[in-house]
Amino acid sequence: MTAPFCSVRGLSVRYGQEAALKSINLDIIGGERLAIIGESGSGKSTLARALAGLLPERTKIEGNITWPALGYAPLPGRDFGFVFQDPSTSLNPVLTIGEQIAEAAQRHLGFGWRQAYARAEELLTRVRLPQPTNAMRAFPHQLSGGQRQRVAITAAIAAKPALLIADEATSALDVVVQAEIVRLLDGLVREEGMTLLFITHDIALASGFVDRVAVFHNGELVEAGPIRSVLSSPADSYTAALIASHRDLSTPPLIAEMAS
Ligand SMILES: Nc1ncnc2c1ncn2[C@@H]1O[C@H](COP(=O)(O)OP(=O)(O)OP(=O)(O)O)[C@@H](O)[C@H]1O
Ligand SMILES: [Mg+2]
Repeated sequence: MTAPFCSVRGLSVRYGQEAALKSINLDIIGGERLAIIGESGSGKSTLARALAGLLPERTKIEGNITWPALGYAPLPGRDFGFVFQDPSTSLNPVLTIGEQIAEAAQRHLGFGWRQAYARAEELLTRVRLPQPTNAMRAFPHQLSGGQRQRVAITAAIAAKPALLIADEATSALDVVVQAEIVRLLDGLVREEGMTLLFITHDIALASGFVDRVAVFHNGELVEAGPIRSVLSSPADSYTAALIASHRDLSTPPLIAEMAS
């Protein structure tokens, strides 16, 4: 068996008195699309921040996170990219779109500025931003929310990271744009052979494209497995309730998945 990309063992995290994560064991397999599902406060972003080494100082952390396939601790920006719910948290308002994407390529790939700028434009074309040459000179506020998220994704993958962490990356978008961004992420990770951690409270959205799912509830990992088997026969009652709540809503991707 090949070594997992990332191995989490006995991970507990406490910001204050309450544990935000309780003794989590989870392997992330290289090249997989893994959904992290759970309601607000279940510990999803805490897991992402722990993986990224971005937990605040004085957070109490127990357990281990290792990167067997990499063989070293990953560097943010180079080995993994982050996409957040609100692209304005990751985009710099005073830099043009072209400058900020090129800057990531320049810093981590050792490109000269011209080469980095050319890569930025090529990437913007790939993420199907309209008029990429003009967009290179635009500032974030001149784009729509969906376009800004495409730019944030582009900046996150500019350095060809092995892992992309998308934390509620589509939650602020309307359903049509949400579906477009999911398709974009899906296509990019396949083409680049990246591993994707897709964090969401929406199991229906994730079910359309991920390989595996890990369900979090109150800081505990209640269940993890291939998406199809979790949907058809959830082992945990909380997961079953989550699925049932979506079935009531007749959410299309989940129903399609379950019917096929
Ligand atoms: N910086 C922090 N300081 C103190 N407590 C925190 C901090 N960040 C998160 N928490 C607490 O840790 C718990 C888990 O939070 P976390 O942000 O990981 O949840 P989440 O699943 O990402 O939720 P959401 O879906 O709302 O983003 C919550 O009870 C939250 O209040
Ligand atoms: Mg969160």
